[in-house]
Amino acid sequence: MSIYSTSSQSLSRLENILIIGNGGRENSLAWAIQKNEFVKKVYLIPGNAGSERINKCERINIDIKNRNDLVEKLNLLKIDLILIGPEIPLAEGLADFLREKDFKVFGPGKDGAKLEYSKSWAKEFMQDANIPTAKFWKVNSLEKAKEIIHSSSYPLVVKADGLASGKGVFIPDSKNECLRAAELIFNGKFGNSGDVVVLEEKIQGPEVSVFALCDGKKYILLPSAQDHKRLNEKDKGPNTGGMGAYSPAPLLTEDYLKTIIKEIIEPTINELNQKNIDYKGVIYFGLMITKSGPKVIEYNCRFGDPECQTIMPLMDQNFVFLLEKCAMGKLTGYEKINTSNKVSGCVIATSKGYPYEYKTGFPIKIGKIDSTDCQIFDSGTCFNENRELLTAGGRVLSIVCQDKDFDLVFEKAYKNLKEINFDGIYFRNDIGHQVRRNFSKEN
Ligand code: AMP
Ligand code: GLY
Repeated sequence: MSIYSTSSQSLSRLENILIIGNGGRENSLAWAIQKNEFVKKVYLIPGNAGSERINKCERINIDIKNRNDLVEKLNLLKIDLILIGPEIPLAEGLADFLREKDFKVFGPGKDGAKLEYSKSWAKEFMQDANIPTAKFWKVNSLEKAKEIIHSSSYPLVVKADGLASGKGVFIPDSKNECLRAAELIFNGKFGNSGDVVVLEEKIQGPEVSVFALCDGKKYILLPSAQDHKRLNEKDKGPNTGGMGAYSPAPLLTEDYLKTIIKEIIEPTINELNQKNIDYKGVIYFGLMITKSGPKVIEYNCRFGDPECQTIMPLMDQNFVFLLEKCAMGKLTGYEKINTSNKVSGCVIATSKGYPYEYKTGFPIKIGKIDSTDCQIFDSGTCFNENRELLTAGGRVLSIVCQDKDFDLVFEKAYKNLKEINFDGIYFRNDIGHQVRRNFSKEN
């Protein structure tokens, strides 16, 4: 058995849970939460077709923007705990609103979500707290951006300040490309999200995602994960939301973790407190392990996707108690997470054309799946009028497996992927190449 034990008591009634969101991430959270014996129902607003395959889950068709209807419905359903999955409702203050209505909510308020929805604010936040990150310039005009790009002695990364569904970051290869990226953003490619541009020193090193469940003052870390952001094998091609992941990431040694806790995680939580931000939710630290140590690439105010799908199967049934404690501000600081002694890996199947234009509506055929320690979390699917499963997004399915080592994990994931088909299916064959001993033999 690898680790530890959480307190296995709920602090309050925990029968009806609500998850807001419609992706693979939310389905994996629902799947992990329904394992708890006290939980009777997990509602998803809106969820997707795959949510309907998960035990105890039910989808609710209601527009979360219609806040009064939402509250009425949640009261009717006697919702005990709410999780908000995606960044947009968090940035719009949905958690604040629901807390004001006396619901227990796992998810930061608008002030905390700013860590994600304003990259320049997050960079200034890190500067204030002396948290290691790439050098940056916040610019309000194309002229200013040009000045900095021309005078910079090192390569730069160009980012739209606001939310852009993971598409607002450009990693140019030349000054010309850099200028073009700044032009695109200032010319409105991302609407208001591009009113401000952040230019950053381009840093190098492997990336790792670390998740801290936070109750406002205290926190507990989930197993780390490594995402694969690029579309194509050998980490080539455009950035995507994530093509696969594995957990835990062996790259994150005890020593690195100690440094990350001391230099990054604790200073982040202290700085939130300093700024009177009561952060009840997950802080996603996107880190790069550079030659001069770990640095923060970005913060997100939500679980990563596909990291969440990868980590959730490692949680035991007490996981929901941790979420509840965070929502109530009641972590003791002594909780431990019960993970299984297995490792986990996830491969994402996408629609041809993603992350650019793609078509949807293709039937999904799933053959004989080896379901031992293997889950399929739908990311973008729907049903047609005959209840046939169809593709409905760029990322379509998350195939997740656990086993005692990563070779076995990915062997099983890719064997199962052979049983899955839809028009234009695309996935990377090299997810987890860093940790698969048999990888070079296969290729
Ligand atoms: P972000 O949305 O800020 O996480 O950026 C998306 C991806 O762009 C990251 O996962 C990195 O691979 C890359 N990236 C972002 N900022 C930098 C940087 N300053 N230096 C090098 N790569 C970066
Ligand atoms: N996997 C990257 C993200 O969720 O932003």
